Amino acid sequence: MMPATPTTQSSATSIATGLFISLEGIDGAGKTTHIQSLVQAFKQQGKTITQTREPGGTALAEKLRNLALHEPMDALTEALIMFAARRDHIQNCIVPALLRDEVVLCDRFVDATFAYQGGGRGFDWATLEMLERTVLQTDTHYIQPQLTLWFDVPVEIAAARVAKSRVADRFEAEDVVFFKQVQSAYARRAQAFPQRIVRIDANATPEAVAQSVHAVLVQRGVL
Ligand code: TYD
Repeated sequence: MMPATPTTQSSATSIATGLFISLEGIDGAGKTTHIQSLVQAFKQQGKTITQTREPGGTALAEKLRNLALHEPMDALTEALIMFAARRDHIQNCIVPALLRDEVVLCDRFVDATFAYQGGGRGFDWATLEMLERTVLQTDTHYIQPQLTLWFDVPVEIAAARVAKSRVADRFEAEDVVFFKQVQSAYARRAQAFPQRIVRIDANATPEAVAQSVHAVLVQRGVL
């Protein structure tokens, strides 16, 4: 396990309205299934939901996603594309939705960059932290999820799920060693942000995982 590094954070506050939740995990962890049950649960409460994803979530960021997932590039280019897509997503999707007092459910956010580019590619962690501080800071707010659900599942099980379900993109085509590094980087982030990041044991039936998610949301007072 890599040592935990304290991450400096801007002093600006989070947006007071809305609720921002991100879902994280290695490919095949099941977050895409569980985002649907979260949408249903919040809808039942009468909330308006913005369901979005990274990289992506705006017209420009979806174009950047297509490049990042399919074109060969070096690790710095990849990290910069992820952060460029994120910046546009924050400015033109996430912030407006939070200001409208909506629930923003985001399939991956900044922790994925630490996991995939930092862990998987071995890209410099401190540089990613510098980019994070710059990109998450708007003129008035520091944009971070109030809650991040990290779906943790053994790498071999996730790989078997992905192999069954789809044609692999540049990341999904990586090997077990890559995904073990991604997983330890998620663990490192969870250790650095214990209040925000909650680990969900995703090595269980979809019903059991959905129950764990529900319990976390109730315990946090958001459901
Ligand atoms: P994913 O959520 O797996 O999309 P889908 O379920 O449609 O395949 O995300 C796409 C990929 O992008 C995933 O393999 C992880 C990668 N990724 C990064 O490498 N860095 C990032 O910062 C983000 C947000 C995603």
